[in-house]
Amino acid sequence: MTATIIDGTAVADRMRAEIAGDAERFKHKYGYAPGLGAVLAGDDPASAQYVRMKRRACEKVGIESVTFEMTADSTQADVDAAIQSLNENPRVHGILVQLPLPPQVDEERALRLVSLEKDVDGFHPVNIGKLAMKGREPTFTPATPTGCMLLLEEIGTPIEGAHAVVLGRSNIVGLPVAMMLQKANATVTICHSRTRDIPGMIRQADILIAAIGKPEYVKGDWLKPGVVIIDVGTNRIDDPASEKGYRWVGDVDFASANQVAGAITKVPGGVGPMTITMLLKNTVKAAWTIAETLESSR
Ligand code: GUN
Repeated sequence: MTATIIDGTAVADRMRAEIAGDAERFKHKYGYAPGLGAVLAGDDPASAQYVRMKRRACEKVGIESVTFEMTADSTQADVDAAIQSLNENPRVHGILVQLPLPPQVDEERALRLVSLEKDVDGFHPVNIGKLAMKGREPTFTPATPTGCMLLLEEIGTPIEGAHAVVLGRSNIVGLPVAMMLQKANATVTICHSRTRDIPGMIRQADILIAAIGKPEYVKGDWLKPGVVIIDVGTNRIDDPASEKGYRWVGDVDFASANQVAGAITKVPGGVGPMTITMLLKNTVKAAWTIAETLESSR
């Protein structure tokens, strides 16, 4: 038997239609659209591509977007000024500081500068801190981890009491998704480059989140039968047989994992479409909160 495919594109499409309806209701009530402001500093082509995709996705659901595009030699003062300007712009309800920032810019300082009520990426230290702590709830949670959790929910994966193994400990995915799984009462193991016997750890997983950026790293014979796999990896590999000469693969060897897993996401078409959707959802949520707070203070 092969695994159930968790279709991120279908879930994202359904959610984007709901978000577009919500953005339309917002515009009808307040006379202006929800707005997202992005700061893109540097010349990383992947970051530029992300920001372009986010801008296009905003347009499609009726969110207005402004982007500060800055060169790789931008200073801390340049980045700070861009964030401040978005903080002060009443038509901007969500702010996205695209990571990584150039090395001369202090990432924590920049993320801390984002207004808490506009922190739709959930990377403000206060939101990350609340995510880490028992009994506290962040206003927003990071996009990719939230997308992973929604995909687990989509197929009714039992999380409470399950053993979740997270492969990777990045600030953007591995660490926050581990905290979210723990908040949902999973028992969480984080595996990283110094972990001994990663296959042995993965064999214990009821839920596996793979986010290490190594193409087709996890093999089918490392898996517990029935495991639910969310593959966050997006790795470009050479493929002379394809028209473009390359193709995209995840961190999991799909062909062998598909024979053992209970459910699995595809790459592309799994987590990718969910990430931007979460950002759109948070932006409209921020717009309602900001507008309603303003209204009630009048
Ligand atoms: N760089 C890679 N992924 C992300 C993301 O989800 N948000 C931000 N701000 N930067 C990223």
